[in-house]
Amino acid sequence: MMARSFATVEDTPNRVYGGLADQDRIFQNLYLGNSKKHGTPSYDLKTAMKIGDWYKTKEILLKGDTWIIDEIKASGLRGRGGAGFPSGLKWSFMNPPGWNKNVGPRYLVVNADEGEPGTCKDREIMRKEPHKLVEGCLVAGRAMNATAAYIYIRGEFYNEAVTLQNAINQAYEAGFLGPDACGSGFAFDVYIHRGMGAYVCGEETALIESLEGKAGKPRLKPPFPAGVGLFGRPSTVTNVETVAVAPTICRRGGKWFSSFGRERNSGTKLFCISGNVNEPCTVEEEMSISMRELIDKHCGGVKGGWDNLLAVIPGGSSTPILNKETCDDILMDYDALRDAGSGLGTAAVIVFNKQADVLRGIQRLLAFYKHESCGQCTPCREGSTYLSKMMDRFYVGQAQEKEIDKALELTKKVEGHSICAMGEAFSWPYQGLVKNFKPLMIERIREYKRQNGLEDGGMQYGGWHDSGRVKDGEVVNNPMPKEAFHGH
Ligand SMILES: Cc1cc2nc3c(=O)[nH]c(=O)nc-3n(C[C@H](O)[C@H](O)[C@H](O)COP(=O)(O)O)c2cc1C
Ligand code: SF4
Repeated sequence: MMARSFATVEDTPNRVYGGLADQDRIFQNLYLGNSKKHGTPSYDLKTAMKIGDWYKTKEILLKGDTWIIDEIKASGLRGRGGAGFPSGLKWSFMNPPGWNKNVGPRYLVVNADEGEPGTCKDREIMRKEPHKLVEGCLVAGRAMNATAAYIYIRGEFYNEAVTLQNAINQAYEAGFLGPDACGSGFAFDVYIHRGMGAYVCGEETALIESLEGKAGKPRLKPPFPAGVGLFGRPSTVTNVETVAVAPTICRRGGKWFSSFGRERNSGTKLFCISGNVNEPCTVEEEMSISMRELIDKHCGGVKGGWDNLLAVIPGGSSTPILNKETCDDILMDYDALRDAGSGLGTAAVIVFNKQADVLRGIQRLLAFYKHESCGQCTPCREGSTYLSKMMDRFYVGQAQEKEIDKALELTKKVEGHSICAMGEAFSWPYQGLVKNFKPLMIERIREYKRQNGLEDGGMQYGGWHDSGRVKDGEVVNNPMPKEAFHGH
């Protein structure tokens, strides 16, 4: 037997994660199955109550802020918006000692911007389980002693905004919201605000700026929103999924939720899987499920079979791409993916099979980030533009091999030097590409040289052919690659 020092913890039992049972699914109506069973419209109050929403909400509210926060802490829930910060702790920042001496409104701000490419989980909640979100606003709002919730919803989600507004109206009519929410004596209102479709408005302080009617440009922190947030008042911005799971956690207990997944990675989670799989889907599963099981069981496998897998972006487009070898036995949770050099992010899994071109994929993503940079910080504004242009050339191979590392160095200079995490969001996809697919990038460059007779030189940095000339103010003999995306 292995000797154990005082500092070690017990070995983790050899448990296999995944295979979440139907009765343990929080989102019972994600496939509209229950509404069909009850023969009612898919997402109305009647259906919601039949699947357990709004059950004993009054009792939860009466237990008070500390009880709710303690239950969320015990559940181990980590924010589902991407960063994975412990939710109970984050919510508790709204209630520092003497918080009630600061009289006035206080806000829960729900982040329904869902702009990260590949991510389509909050959308499903708003479409099919809107009452979970509305009830979640009330429960999370009670925990934070908020007076109202603003749900900031991505502009393109028109139908979702309508569905959600209907659910809010039904909740008011039933007395679940308003001056005496659920008969608890707690006054609470819920409002929807539709955004205008900018990715950066998903960043919490940009979202607050946008809600205030200003351009969505992130603020410098501190002060943090819990101190100075929306309209200058204490506020907390939190993701749709994080809020929507709170009532079930309170009903079934934090311990129940924490029984799923590995330590520090607990709970059930919505995964959205897209790309080269047979059946792309959004599914609720146990945290720490293996990537392979997630894809094989819920998506009918990789197109062409598992051995035809090339790479996976595991947590939304800003998380570094992984190669097949890593994917073979990786678990889908915060710690496992961080240890593999990537992240769980929003749990949006983007699959590439061997027929796909990863260089084209990353080229397209970098063009997206360039387009979405708000432009406030030089490293992000210039870096995203420069990197996207370089990636346009790497995609066709019109570059010097040394430029691969030059671009990598650029991303290292951007990381940690911008106001918001957009700097990392566009740096990481490129870093993941170089880490896992540098030989492919080099091969693309050599192929370009072969095809253009440039093997023995004839091309400078920046994709400039020696034969290039400037004639009448125009560059001739030097075709440059097409941009990935002509945004405006
Ligand atoms: C550029 C950028 C875009 C973001 N977009 C979203 C988004 O669409 N939805 C979201 O919930 N969080 C988004 N986030 C993360 C939020 O800033 C914030 O961390 C999150 O909403 C907190 O919620 P949570 O505690 O429930 O995870 C984004 C962050 C950045 C830097
Ligand atoms: S990092 Fe980019 S998106 Fe974020 S504030 Fe700076 S310029 Fe704007």
